[in-house]
Formats: sequence, structure tokens, C-alpha cells
Amino acid sequence: MTRRILVTSALPYANGAIHLGHLVEYIQTDIWVRFQKMQPKDKVKECWYVCADDTHGTPIMLRAEQDGITPEALIERVHGEHSRDFAGFHVAFDNFYTTHSEETHDCANEIYFRLKTAGLIEKRTIEQYYDPVKQMFLPDRFIKGECPKCGAKDQYGDNCESCGAAYTPNDLINPYSAISGAKPELRNSDHYFFKLSDPRCQGFLRRWTREAGRLQPEAANKMQEWLGFDEGEGGANKLTDWDISRDAPYFGFEIPDAPGKYFYVWLDAPIGYMGSFKNLCSRLGVSFDDYWKAGSPTELYHFIGKDILYFHALFWPAELEHAGYRTPTGIFAHGFLTVDGAKMSKSRGTFITAESYLQQGLNPEWLRYYYAAKLNGTMEDIDLNLEDFTARVNSDLIGKYVNIASRCAGFIGKKFDGMLAATDAPWLKPLREVATSIADAYEARDYGRALREIMALADAANVFVNDRKPWELAKQDGREAELHATCSEAIEAFRLLTLYLKPVLPKVAEAVEIFLGIDPLTWSAAAVPLPAGHAINAYSHLMTRIDPKQIAALVEASKESLPSATDVTPQKTPAKPAKEVAVSTTAGEPGDACISIDDFMKVDLRIARVVDAGHVEGAEKLIRLSLDIGEDKPRQV
Ligand code: 2FM
Ligand code: ZN
Repeated sequence: MTRRILVTSALPYANGAIHLGHLVEYIQTDIWVRFQKMQPKDKVKECWYVCADDTHGTPIMLRAEQDGITPEALIERVHGEHSRDFAGFHVAFDNFYTTHSEETHDCANEIYFRLKTAGLIEKRTIEQYYDPVKQMFLPDRFIKGECPKCGAKDQYGDNCESCGAAYTPNDLINPYSAISGAKPELRNSDHYFFKLSDPRCQGFLRRWTREAGRLQPEAANKMQEWLGFDEGEGGANKLTDWDISRDAPYFGFEIPDAPGKYFYVWLDAPIGYMGSFKNLCSRLGVSFDDYWKAGSPTELYHFIGKDILYFHALFWPAELEHAGYRTPTGIFAHGFLTVDGAKMSKSRGTFITAESYLQQGLNPEWLRYYYAAKLNGTMEDIDLNLEDFTARVNSDLIGKYVNIASRCAGFIGKKFDGMLAATDAPWLKPLREVATSIADAYEARDYGRALREIMALADAANVFVNDRKPWELAKQDGREAELHATCSEAIEAFRLLTLYLKPVLPKVAEAVEIFLGIDPLTWSAAAVPLPAGHAINAYSHLMTRIDPKQIAALVEASKESLPSATDVTPQKTPAKPAKEVAVSTTAGEPGDACISIDDFMKVDLRIARVVDAGHVEGAEKLIRLSLDIGEDKPRQV
């Protein structure tokens, strides 16, 4: 049966810049979608790729307030920045939308009412911390205090960064609001819960998470842990109900039958996948129901980071199932990104934004290639080693791949009027036949394997060129036919390599299609050699080498003069910004856990006496500090 596929990447929060950690996922998804779109129509009829900004929640509300703008203005600005960054890395969504939309609103209301009708929504009064100065209930991440276990000061309301203990905000000693610093009061409030503890939800999830293809094996195991191992349909109740409401003031959708109560951002975020697709459907005349109705034969895949599995593998399928929609065909989780073996760091210059990478003039396809080489379809973390990045891109893409065309194309132009000889030589047969195996690797998201196979072919093509030595043939009389055949066959090998690399290097592939004077390459083109007499165009260089100086400049440009809180409090999710990010002056950048002793040993920690502090003329938020650290004269910072 011909496939119809809908693919999503996780929705980025609308209060932060896209960085290299985020790009792992968008590049991973984009490669998969581009691969699907290259398949013949009788195999993959259509494949849609949608995303949106995740626009709701307390951090966005407070961030807008801090910037002196409305949340609507903030999310509009960030939408422009995100769109620019994604386009810069050739991430080709069919729709990049926003959760703050009528479509998402309608879908959220619909799902809420259907769950309510099914008896799966319950109102309960809970006790929660309230900031009497800011006049709002505080999310856990906005309450700080002393750890109830180890007594460490300034710990967040959900877990201790010093000893790792997990607790609730009510357990904190001497709690204070991270927004105003005020002592919070416990107050009652009505909240709405999605009854995940209901036997219908538990039974469904036990079944669903074990079904073939839904989750990666390591994710399925994790879910069984959460759901209770081997307990079957009637197993013990391990899931607690999910609080889906928040009190005003909140930036989000008001719950239709509960004035002053809003849907929690994580309720409407995945519904944003539907909202974005609905918007695409009305623009392009596609049937929304074909994709979302219960029992739909279409396929739905969510690419996500492993930190948000809980939401996608439990809450989301349970919501969809009990609201009468189809559930995801599969959830594909990836690991986190480290740079040079460590969490991205602002002081080391490895917290690199998409914008900064592009502004420094680095080629986005270098990064696409490197990430692809590292991705294997599992949840393992991946490391961007900057030295290895330079070496691998230069060796594989320039030294092996581009080299084939650059050594042979000139002779075709100069000696044969740009016309190719026959390209159906037997040595090229294995290069065509491997199309199936490379396709299997892409389908399984094992891009590392796909690229290893492709580079082995590039090696074979280079051996062929080295053995035939066209540059020597060109100097010898009477060897024109040999020269013509050699260069034509090498160009055909190059075309095949380009086809296989196209999901990863879409812009290079476009340039090659122009150079070769061919239609856009699709997977079936592997079986069809370029015919004798086919005219190609003049070759112009396709890609430059990475100069290590460019990497040094990028790191330098990404450095912040003072170590930021992210250096000493690693983020829970290096591949993404944290969920409820405090933006107050009292809260630093969010994080958890401790740094390793090795990282700690790298820290040059000194105590300084502030001799003087003064406003920097013309700057809004800068203070010049004069610091005495025991040297001859004070340092200016
Ligand atoms: O973790 C995050 O960055 C969330 N904004 C992802 C949401 S994905 C989906 F559920 F909307
Ligand atoms: Zn502690």
C-alpha cells in the first residue's frame, strides 16, 4: 500500500534562540523527510513535515513582561528568528506555525470536551504556593529554598542540584519566590486533572507502549518501568493523574468551561502538531481527518528528545485514544548533544546558536553531514567534537566526494564538448544496487550506516580514478576514448553518490543537478544511467574545506566574558532549553545535578573584592566592576 506520512519535530519554546543542540533533532527529522520525499509516488504518496513554536506558559509570559512587550509581540518576533534559523540550515518544514492559533485552540477544546465526556477529567482542589507580591501561583521551578535533605540553599522546588534529591515545593525549607523574592503562601485552588490513573488509560498504555514499532526498545523499557513491569492490563496503578490546568495570570488558552483557568502549556503543545497540520490542510486542500481520525491508515511519527518521552509516549497517546483520534505510529527519540565531550558552555564558547554559526560564515551542510554521520536511530547522546568535525568533513566531503567531480569534470568540458560517453560500465553496478541498503539505513534513521556505505562507494570511485589517471591519459595521443570513458563513468559515480547524499546535503545536490543538467534526483534514478551523449555544464567548485581558524573564530564569537550559570549548573537537557525557565533576577539559568569532579578541576575559581562599581556610559544593563584579586592593580570587568 502506498504510504502517506505525517512527521513532526518537537516544538521549540518561543522564548529562546535555536542552538546547535536543537538542530540535532531538526536536522535528523529533515533528513528523514527529504529521504521519504525522494521515494517514488507509488511507494510514498505524500510526506508532510510540520512544526510550530511552543508559545504558552509562565516563562514566556514573564519574559515578555521583562522585555516590556506583550507575549504576542514576543512570540511573533521569535517566530521570525526561528524561521530564519531553520531556513538557514535547510530544515524544510511544510508548515512552521504557532500553538497560539485558532486551529490549536479549537483542537485543544475539542480534546478537552471529549475527554470530559469520557469521564476522564476531574476537578480537584489543591494546595499550591502563591506569590503575594507578584499575585500569582508559582510553578515549581519558580520556588526556591533550602533542600529538605541536605540543607543546600537556593534550590528549585522540584529537585536539589547539590544532593540530587527529588521533592515537592512544599518540602522546601524557607521557600521564596524566584520572581519577587517574597515568602510564598500556601493557598487553595481548583485544578483540572486528566485521569491517567483510570484503568482505561493504564490498560491502554500498557498495551500501546508494547506494540511493535511504537517506541524504540530502550524507550519501551523505560515506559514499562513507569507503568509497572509485566503487570498486564490489570496491573497495579502506577500513573498518577495529570494536572492540566493553571491559574490566571497565565499566557495560554482559557479552559472553555472554567473562567480564570488555563490549559497547562504541555496540554496544548502536542495539540500544536494537529493545529499546524490543520493550517497546512486548509492552505493546501489536504484532508485533516484522513490523517487524524481513529484507525487512519496514514502514518504519524514524532521526532523528539529523550527528555520529553513521558509527554509523548504516555500523556499524548492516552489523550488521543480517549478523545477518539488516531495515536502516533511511532515516537523516535534521540539523545542529547555534547560539544567536545561536555555540556555546551557559554564561557568555553561551545554554546553556539544557529545564528552565530551562520553569521560566522560556516556552511550549514557541514553540520548536517557531521550530525548525520553520528546519528544511528538510538537514544544515545552524540558528541560534536570540533576537531573531528573539521577532519571528517574535509576528508569525506572534500577529499573523497567532491574530489571525484573536480578531477574529472574539466576533461569532459574541455575535450568532449561537455558530452558524456556511455556510463553503464559493470563496475558501477554495485553502486546502483546499494540503493536499497542505503534506503533501509535512512528509513531506520541509521544515517551513520548510510554514510559509511556511501563513503565506501566514494572510496571505490576514487580508486577507479586513481588507477585510470585521467590527467595522464589526457597527455597521451590516441587515448581519448579511454579518457572519455573514465571521466564519464566517474561523473556517473558522482551522480549516484549525490543522489544518496541528497537527504543530508540538499543544496549541494541542487548545485550538482544543475551542473549535470538533470532533473531533481529521486531514489529510482539510481537504476537509470546517464545516457551517452548527455551534456553536462561547466563545473564550479561545490564546497570548500573547513579552515580550523573558522572554528576557532566561531568559538571565540560564542564566548561570553563571564562564566554563566549554565557552566556550573548543567541543563537537564543539553539538546534543549529547560521547561519552566525562570527569568527573574534572582534565578540563574535553570539546571540540575552537579558538575563532574573533572569539570570542577578545570574551573579557575577566585575570590575578588569589589573595589568599585559604576554604570557603563551609553549601556542599558552594564556595570563596570573593579575587582581586587590580589594582583598589582585591580582588574576591570
Ligand atoms: O521541550 C520542549 O522544548 C517543548 N517545547 C517541546 C514541546 S513538543 C510538543 F509536545 F509540542
Ligand atoms: Zn540537597
